[in-house]
Amino acid sequence: MDIEPIRQTLDSEIQSVKTLQELEDLRVKYLGRKGAIAQLTGSIPALAPQDRGPFGRQVNDLKNRALSLFEEKQKQISAGPQEESRWSLDISLPGIAQELGHKHPLTQVIEEICGMFKRMGFSIVDGNEVETEYSNFTGLNIPLEHPSREAFDTFYISLPPTKEGKLLLRSQTSTVQIRAMKSQKPPLAVVAPGRVYRPDAVDASHSFMFHQIEGFIVDENITFSDLKGTLEFFAKGIFGQDIKMRFRPHFFPFTEPSAEVDISCIICRGKGCSVCGRKGWLEILGSGMIHPNVFKNVGYDAGKYTGFAFGMGVERIAMLKYGINDIRLFFENDLRFLKQF
Ligand code: DAH
Repeated sequence: MDIEPIRQTLDSEIQSVKTLQELEDLRVKYLGRKGAIAQLTGSIPALAPQDRGPFGRQVNDLKNRALSLFEEKQKQISAGPQEESRWSLDISLPGIAQELGHKHPLTQVIEEICGMFKRMGFSIVDGNEVETEYSNFTGLNIPLEHPSREAFDTFYISLPPTKEGKLLLRSQTSTVQIRAMKSQKPPLAVVAPGRVYRPDAVDASHSFMFHQIEGFIVDENITFSDLKGTLEFFAKGIFGQDIKMRFRPHFFPFTEPSAEVDISCIICRGKGCSVCGRKGWLEILGSGMIHPNVFKNVGYDAGKYTGFAFGMGVERIAMLKYGINDIRLFFENDLRFLKQF
């Protein structure tokens, strides 16, 4: 008798078995007292003596194979589809908790700051990140020889220049002053948050990309005291009512007069510590009265209108507000950091 065809039919028949009854029938067919394997065993004495040993071993192998196939199949059927469909919905199991994310700390700070200006009547305007030399420099009264125009301070885009000069990644949100003033007539009160780019080496306080918020207002009779009141409302809202604010004379090409704004150190409250470099003051933004040349460049009557402008770095504000000492933390996407906000 040939063993191989029996092994093959066993293999294929056992595959199509679906129920325990079918399995039992098949078990009798192969392993029963009169089954195929018993018949093979029974045929051994009729063989030539030298064939009995090898044949006997093959029959034994087949028997062991059959036993393990049946055992496996039985397990499969017992745990199989019938079981599964009966128990697949266990309504007593706790649900799978979905972790809810939240806004990035920089988004939260941008929304908080813009929200304050919105309440004062400013509208929020989006600018372009890809800009022209005109909006980033020329329109803002930045002279041709100004170092910030150099390729080591600005990312230029290698595309043919437009009629407003080369294309670049804006290095400041002041560009929105030019765009907004060219498209609207005064009165105007705008805040413009967004990304800016500078080819700086990345370290604890520099990044090639960061965020700024620009603000400006243009109308008749806008004065420096309006700038002061507006910024004081902002600074106290963000850093606390008990902080002090001061203007420090400075130069910006697009404002005259210009000033940097400091707040009393939020760590040492003005006494002097390592965060404020023993000065007691922390710089938070640049500001000033919009330069008449800027008004001329956008076609406003510089004799009739005045305005103020300011620009701040969002990362810097967030770092001061939350005591963060490394700007890279904002961009590494490390949940251990982000979860704290
Ligand atoms: N654009 C300036 C910068 O990136 C910040 C700034 C200073 C904006 C004075 C202003 C301003 O609107 O009046 O350093």
